[in-house]
Amino acid sequence: MTDTEIRKGLAGVVVDETAVSKVNPETNSLLYRGYPVQQLAAQCTFEEVAYLLWHGELPDEKQLADFESLERSLRAMNPVVQRVIDELPITAHPMDVVRTAVSVIGALDESLTTDATWIDRDLTRERSIRLWAQLPAVVAYAQRRLRGERLVEPRDDLGYAANFLHMAFGEVPELVVVEAFDVSMTLYAEHSFNASTFTGRVITSTLSDVYSAVTGAIGALKGPLHGGANEAVMHVFREIGTADAAPQWLADSLAAKRKIMGFGHRVYKNGDSRVPTMKAALETLVAHYDRPEVLDLYHSLEQAMDDAKGIKPNLDYPSGPAYDLMGFDTTIFTPLFIAARVTGWTAHVIEQLSANALIRPLSAYTGPEQREVPGS
Ligand code: COA
Repeated sequence: MTDTEIRKGLAGVVVDETAVSKVNPETNSLLYRGYPVQQLAAQCTFEEVAYLLWHGELPDEKQLADFESLERSLRAMNPVVQRVIDELPITAHPMDVVRTAVSVIGALDESLTTDATWIDRDLTRERSIRLWAQLPAVVAYAQRRLRGERLVEPRDDLGYAANFLHMAFGEVPELVVVEAFDVSMTLYAEHSFNASTFTGRVITSTLSDVYSAVTGAIGALKGPLHGGANEAVMHVFREIGTADAAPQWLADSLAAKRKIMGFGHRVYKNGDSRVPTMKAALETLVAHYDRPEVLDLYHSLEQAMDDAKGIKPNLDYPSGPAYDLMGFDTTIFTPLFIAARVTGWTAHVIEQLSANALIRPLSAYTGPEQREVPGS
């Protein structure tokens, strides 16, 4: 290879193939295993979407029933994981709490006996499903401990989304809220070679195990240029306050060269394919909770950004206020993203293992020329 051009941030570089999802900025579409994400969000539960990502096909009735009962049987938090979480300071960011919990879950997995078992694809899929099923308990508890509340045991008579909300709040909200939450999980589940997924693939390419890949992916997701943006959007909404203040706030922020959280995307340049579906879910929540001022502010900032820069919102823009309306703490928004994206991350881990090459790019050295250590 003779191309020595440096592409900062790997922008525009195709590093591998994937059959998990396709992002097409030209047609503003996102396909999971060939299915449009909007159709999946409208017609399938998050459990069906998770099954699709891991198995390549949607489940039939029997496969879904088996998969759902497996997920329900794996939900309880391991007491060791709870003890470790309890040892962490209450000031720890929930992203750090969840990252630590995933690491502990990995250390407790006795099937990781030899390095050959780390990369066994069937075992990796089983581990991925177990981890996915256990994360709602961890994320819900990460919020409850901040509020001085006790762990809530899972209920096996509820689907994934309803049970997650039950563990977070101690009660199951109305169906519109459960459905909006389920839709958000589907929309966050997968998005090709984003920074956290790529991190997981890099770790997997060294033939490390899936827990290490997910722990690293969580670290990448935490940053505000990636998953941390949904949390940051809420800070922006609070800082602005009301719809009429948005244009001036934006002008001042752009003049100060601030990046506006929840806007822009590395791949989409004409709007994020997931936004219309999440915005519809936000509208349902706004009507349900009778909070029209939230949408007023949403529209005002969106319009001001369009006028000023022509930059469109990404998924984090509607999901931030949606999670806020559901009653989640702002610091829990990005952990919710983990609970969804663990499906896509681990589907990529399995794909990486099936045609692996160590990911090890080159760099152009810009330091001093060779020189002698003084005294040598
Ligand atoms: N606020 C203000 N300006 C933005 C912007 C934002 N959110 N997103 C992009 N821009 C501007 C850049 O400053 C740049 O302007 P310039 O050419 O005058 O320097 C131009 O748009 C191109 O942006 P660039 O930084 O090259 O895009 P990127 O592909 O590197 O960045 C993001 C993509 C996501 C990192 C960027 O849009 C961003 O920081 N968004 C906010 C964080 C966020 O919401 N992240 C979640 C992504 S799903």
